[in-house]
Amino acid sequence: MNNWYLKEWATALLMCAAMMGTHPKASAQDYAHPDFDGAGKLKPEFIKQGKKLYANHCSGCHGIKGDGEGPAAYGLSPKPRDFSRAVFKFRSTDFGSIPTDADIERSIREGIPGTSMPSFRLFADNDIKALAQYIKVFDTTGKWKEAPIKVALDPEPQWMHDPVQWKTKASAGKVTFDQVCAVCHGAGGAGDGIGGQALVDNWLHPVKPADLRKPHDIGSGPSLEDAFRAITTGLYGSPMVGYGSSFDAEKRWELVAYIHFLRQSHKNPALSLPEISQSSSTETSTNSPENEFE
Ligand code: HEC
Ligand code: HEC
Repeated sequence: MNNWYLKEWATALLMCAAMMGTHPKASAQDYAHPDFDGAGKLKPEFIKQGKKLYANHCSGCHGIKGDGEGPAAYGLSPKPRDFSRAVFKFRSTDFGSIPTDADIERSIREGIPGTSMPSFRLFADNDIKALAQYIKVFDTTGKWKEAPIKVALDPEPQWMHDPVQWKTKASAGKVTFDQVCAVCHGAGGAGDGIGGQALVDNWLHPVKPADLRKPHDIGSGPSLEDAFRAITTGLYGSPMVGYGSSFDAEKRWELVAYIHFLRQSHKNPALSLPEISQSSSTETSTNSPENEFE
């Protein structure tokens, strides 16, 4: 009886050891891995797996205590995240809420464009999952006991793919942008607005408004959906608040259409928007000397 028990235990340990070693890229099936319990909580073995990976790949920046003060953090801007306060910028959840596991996994997998946070795309899915769980051990707030508050993220509207309609929507987006966003992001979206000059984040580190013309410098990711998510939920911990309750989804997609225009016209200054000339935008004429206004 005792022997049988020991043998089972030894096999389990061996399996664990095998999983902690290097292994080929896992398939999507690993999300239903038997070592995760029904609630998606990791068993202690996986915390162990996360700990090892974290020590090797993350602690240099995020610190062995998860406080963002790793030896390589010196001089980095933005600073590596301090995981002790459960404050996360990149989320599909309410401003102030903890992120979903999928949000954390996306940040680890894709990295944070425009910052020193690298992509770990080559890691196996269950390694990324273990890391996403492991960073929660540094929390001092108890917030991980709550459920994340998911926010509705409306899909990209059909009109975005209509060559005429998206520009009309972008013109509408420009009006909102000039009123609300330009103060920080600058009239041309370059991140040079007067109100964006001396901003700090929750840790009192300086933070600059994003240059919206450059999709590959956007922390949330380069796609229009990524921009929509950032505008909707905000970047908690930074002065970039969420506009999910100020503007309905249509208005937020209009803003995204305008960001799309800023990106396109950055590459092709001859590109113009309908009616935008009538709203006496001096900035458009300096940015796009080739504009033929109607
Ligand atoms: C070279 C330094 C560096 C390394 C190595 C690094 N990070 Fe980061 N990480 C950063 C920086 C800098 C940020 C903050 C980006 C920002 O504020 O826009 C960040 C942000 C994050 C975020 C996003 C937090 C949020 O606010 O949503 C997560 C999650 C994260 N890192 C996890 C990890 C994990 C896990 C590893 C190891 C597998 C790792 N990082 C390795 C520098 C690093
Ligand atoms: C108070 C100043 C301020 C205002 C107003 C503001 N932003 Fe921002 N925004 C920022 C800052 C600062 C960042 C960068 C935050 C960071 O990286 O931590 C940012 C980042 C962003 C990003 C990139 C997010 C990412 O994932 O990296 C987008 C998109 C954006 N803002 C769009 C908008 C839009 C659209 C509006 C108007 C509805 C707006 N912002 C209003 C300060 C502002």
